[in-house]
Parts: sequence; structure tokens; C-alpha cells
Amino acid sequence: MRRPFVAGNWKMNLNWEQARQLVADLKAKVRPDPPLDLAVCPPFVYLIPVGREIQGSPFRLGAQNVYFQEKGAFTGEIAPSMLKDAGCTYVIIGHSERRHILGETGDLLAKKVRAAQKAGLHVIYCVGEKLDEREANRTEDVLARQIDEVFGPDVSPTDITVAYEPVWAIGTGRNATPQQAQEAHRFIRMRLARVYNDGLASGLRIQYGGSVTAANARDLMSQPDVDGALVGGASLKADEFSRIIEATIAAKNL
Ligand code: PGA
Repeated sequence: MRRPFVAGNWKMNLNWEQARQLVADLKAKVRPDPPLDLAVCPPFVYLIPVGREIQGSPFRLGAQNVYFQEKGAFTGEIAPSMLKDAGCTYVIIGHSERRHILGETGDLLAKKVRAAQKAGLHVIYCVGEKLDEREANRTEDVLARQIDEVFGPDVSPTDITVAYEPVWAIGTGRNATPQQAQEAHRFIRMRLARVYNDGLASGLRIQYGGSVTAANARDLMSQPDVDGALVGGASLKADEFSRIIEATIAAKNL
């Protein structure tokens, strides 16, 4: 049985006072020992203080990005060991905004995943097709490529979560239907079984992301291959995010 995992990706949002308030509200609303894994992923500059605020709560800390080198002349970048130092358990790699706005390539992402795992971070690796790719029936080709260019026997399947985030669903208010999500998650799991084997692939968690809300979470999370959510906009509201967490617990009968 895969333990569900719900993470909030704050992206480039909130000032410090808002971040502190959000964490305080989440701590008040979310039960202290829930039957799933939880994380918040603030901007780099808030990692350490948010880490302090979530102490004693079920939330763990995640970063939104990382570089693959350990140290050196890479102005503006952050090393995996620095994220560990800052208290991170998780790091998001390959978010569609980094692929499509910041131009990150599969080759770069493959290096980041390995460097992050080497430093002891658990990776949330994002994949997902754009609207024109879905409309051209190329969703599976895109997902296969994004899996194949990063996964390999040297990537630990127990230290990675895949997040399926169709680009057309991110921040648009248009979520994938539960059936669309299940089909994509099933395909991703089959593809992972080619890299590892059926047993390892069936233990690997796949989150859904893209306009998840308290209203649609239960139906999405009820799908057998959907193991949690990577939540953007709705993770900035304590009430909404805590209801997504409760909906996940209910959907999985935990
Ligand atoms: P959204 O973002 O929930 O605001 O659509 C999800 C994500 O990009 O991780």
C-alpha cells in the first residue's frame, strides 16, 4: 500500500508575514499525526524560517529547485547539500514552469535528480504534456520521454515521487478529469516498470497536480494510481489545503 503524499508548492508567492501565518493556520487545522506524508515548498529564502515554524507538525520541508553541482562558481544557484543543511526533506525537480519558462532540459533534470538523491533528498519529479501535445494525441509520447530521459537503474525508486502535472491544468482552474489522471498515472507506472520492475514500480508514488481544489480532490484521489497531490494555488489557503488533505485521507479510506 502506497502512503499518500500531499505537497504544497508555494511557487514565487507570499511575503514572510503571510508565510508565517499560513503555517500557523495549517498547524491549527491539520491533525497532528495524519496517515499520509505532507510537505510545504516555500521559496528558497523562506526555507529556514518555515522549517522552524513547522517543527512539531506533520509537515516536512521541500525546495522548489536545486542545482546539480556541489559547490563552485554558479552564481545564483543552490547546491543539494545546502538544501539538506536548510532542513529540506524534499526537492521539486522538473516543474513545468522550470521546463517551459526557464528552459530546463531533460539532460539537466537527469543530473539534478541524481545529485539531489546523492545528497539524501527525496525528489518530486514533475512530468506532463502541454495542451497542443494532448490534442495531437501525443500525451503518452511526452510522458515516456520525460520518464526515460531521467530514470535509470542509478536513480533510487524509493527516494523519488513522480508528479503528473498536465501543463494545461496548472493554474488554469481546469483540472484533468479523474479518468484522464488515472490513465496518465497508469501509463507512467507501466513506463517505470520498464526501468525497474513491476514490484518497484507499484511501490512508487505518483501525485497528481494541476488545479487541485478541495472540491475536486476526493474524486481525483480516489483513482487507484493517484497517490496524492502536488498543489499550487490552493496550498496558499490553509482552509483549502487542509480540506484537500482530509479529502485524500477519505478517498483512500485511511
Ligand atoms: P496549481 O499548480 O495547483 O496552482 O494548478 C500546481 C503546480 O504547479 O504544482
